[in-house]
Amino acid sequence: MLDNSKWIAAAGIDGCPEFIKRFDAARQVSRAVLTVTAAGVYSAKLNGSRVGSFFLAPGWTVYNKRHQVQKYDVTKLLLEKNELRITVGSGWYCGEISRASKPADPKLMLIGELEIRFADGSCECYVTDESWEVAESKIRYADIYNGEHYDATFESAAPTHAVVCDYPREQLISQQGEEIVFCEELRPIRAFVTPAGEKLLDFGQEITGIVSIRTRAARGTKIHITCAEMLDAAGNFYNENYRSAKSEMIYICGGKEECWQPELSFYGFRYLKVEGLDTLDVEDFRAKVICSDMRRIGRLNSGIGKLNRLFDNVVWGQKGNFVDVPTDCPQRDERLGWTGDAQVFINTACYQFDTKKFYTKWLEDMKANQRESGAIPMVVPDVLETNSQDIKASTAWADAATVCPWQLYRHFGDLGLLRSHFDMMKRWVGYMTDRTTTPDLWTGYNDASKGGKGHFGDWLGLDAKEGSYVGSSDGDFIASAFYYYSTGLVIKAGKELGEDVSCYEALYSRIYDKFNQTFTEYKTQTECALAIYFGLAPDMKAAVAKLARLIHENGDCLTTGFVGTPYLLYALSEQGETELAYTLLLQEKFPSWLYAVNQGATTMWEHWDGKKEDGSFWSRDMNSFNHYAYGAVAGWVFEEAAGITPELPGFKKVRVAPKPDARLGWLTAEVDTPSGRVVSEWRYENGEARYTICVPCDAVIVVGGKEYEVSAGTYMY
Ligand code: BGC
Repeated sequence: MLDNSKWIAAAGIDGCPEFIKRFDAARQVSRAVLTVTAAGVYSAKLNGSRVGSFFLAPGWTVYNKRHQVQKYDVTKLLLEKNELRITVGSGWYCGEISRASKPADPKLMLIGELEIRFADGSCECYVTDESWEVAESKIRYADIYNGEHYDATFESAAPTHAVVCDYPREQLISQQGEEIVFCEELRPIRAFVTPAGEKLLDFGQEITGIVSIRTRAARGTKIHITCAEMLDAAGNFYNENYRSAKSEMIYICGGKEECWQPELSFYGFRYLKVEGLDTLDVEDFRAKVICSDMRRIGRLNSGIGKLNRLFDNVVWGQKGNFVDVPTDCPQRDERLGWTGDAQVFINTACYQFDTKKFYTKWLEDMKANQRESGAIPMVVPDVLETNSQDIKASTAWADAATVCPWQLYRHFGDLGLLRSHFDMMKRWVGYMTDRTTTPDLWTGYNDASKGGKGHFGDWLGLDAKEGSYVGSSDGDFIASAFYYYSTGLVIKAGKELGEDVSCYEALYSRIYDKFNQTFTEYKTQTECALAIYFGLAPDMKAAVAKLARLIHENGDCLTTGFVGTPYLLYALSEQGETELAYTLLLQEKFPSWLYAVNQGATTMWEHWDGKKEDGSFWSRDMNSFNHYAYGAVAGWVFEEAAGITPELPGFKKVRVAPKPDARLGWLTAEVDTPSGRVVSEWRYENGEARYTICVPCDAVIVVGGKEYEVSAGTYMY
């Protein structure tokens, strides 16, 4: 790909370089295509008009193995005399976020070609080489964590020639993922001054994106904007939880009426603090939401307003964290592709949006990052332990290698995709088999003296010891349970693919036996939930009774963290404790999903009490207000409350088995599956549930304890 083009860079330039190509196209053009990518993120303009709608192209991949190249049809932008300008910022390639993956000698580089076909059959091609020019742009600084600085008064010296770089091309691939695009625009709901005298804008919703500003301020005025998710207890600006991410926008005004928005960075915020302007007019500001370009396919609605706000928050959590890579959060100095968070949320994500292309690309990166040992890194792309083979491969994080391909197959039914990930799945199970200190379990990894790197455990579980982020569920218990679960997924996948999985079946039953000889007692809600949901508990009745007791003893509240929460309600409702599952869903006191809603949450919080009742924060360190993991509860609402699941992979056949609860009054769930739209609705009338179920293909409907085999149609019970 781009065989005749050369990687080019700028020598001795500060800020973000702007690569320039001037050319004539005096004859009639039939088609012009720009094929381009950057080491960094780029923004291309042809004759002043933006090329394409991909924000922060080329997105984020394991660049040294897979570097996406974009193609844009630019025919309509061509004039007789043309100027192509492409500005490059550090982005994920060599910005602060790139951490251990940052090249030893980072250079912002560009490679591409512009091919113009003329109506007379002739063709011109401008490939990147030393004939391209480069100048300093008005973007004086751009970094994903720290933001963007633009100086409208800056005048670049005359452009110089670009320098050709010795950088490989073998890793170049065609664009594979979704483009990051602007998907909506929000007007501030108010501008106000805090008790501390700060001028703030409130967009009423936490978003991921940028802000566009319009200003008429005098030349040289410095407008300085910083971001926050929350106000502190006194109502002042609070951004300590962004940690080292400066997340700022600096604009030096040129003195005319000007509109500006960052081009090479992004932000997570609800509030903006604006310094440098005497007054704020909300009409001068717009928040522009960015997100990978996915189609919304699922919706939930119920008779309880607060629950609907929770559903919205889960959707916003997904939009805000699906910026080319599934991230933990969009604001602080992380924004990384944490594998644990991704595996926790993927099922819900696939109900809400068409995520097939998005995850397909990310799973290719996961595959590229899998180590020879089978280890899967904690973040993909792996920017934390880039140069090491012996990486931390925590249980429930690395299991993304089995869970994600399987969920993708369940939802979208693409056998080819499953096949392409099968080897990764098996190798991950192989890693656990190799690394354990006890055959047929996964033990010892928490023990550094045995070479273990430690598990994240039930991350942020509320039963953690004072000062720890790790819940009190036993590390070996969780790891062995996930070893079992992942082995089971390899078996399921292998059977779909017609593979011989007999050795995995034998392993699966050995893990079951050994697990039950070893872990005879479940001490926490998470341990109960895993044993039940993964099918490890030999006595389901006793296990669910224990789980129910632990919940009751905790005032009908959960204590689970990242590992237990996604399965907690399933463990209850699948074993006859549906009412208790709803009690947790509808619980409003801390800790619960609706606690955050009552505190004004507009996205999902990382911590159950990120903000306490008195307005103080639980910590400044691990306290994001846009972390989608606990949003996995929406998956339960689709699958258990509304009862919509794929009876066959890809919804070739649908199952609708709702489990209603009168406290909601009614619930509607809609999902545009690959077979068409499924609607499950129930409503209480005179104390009885009435159902309207609409299926686009053959389906099994289960209501009132009866099972009906039906074909496409609408059914009422
Ligand atoms: C991230 C998480 C992640 C975790 C690992 C955090 O800093 O924000 O969401 O999964 O580290 O335990």
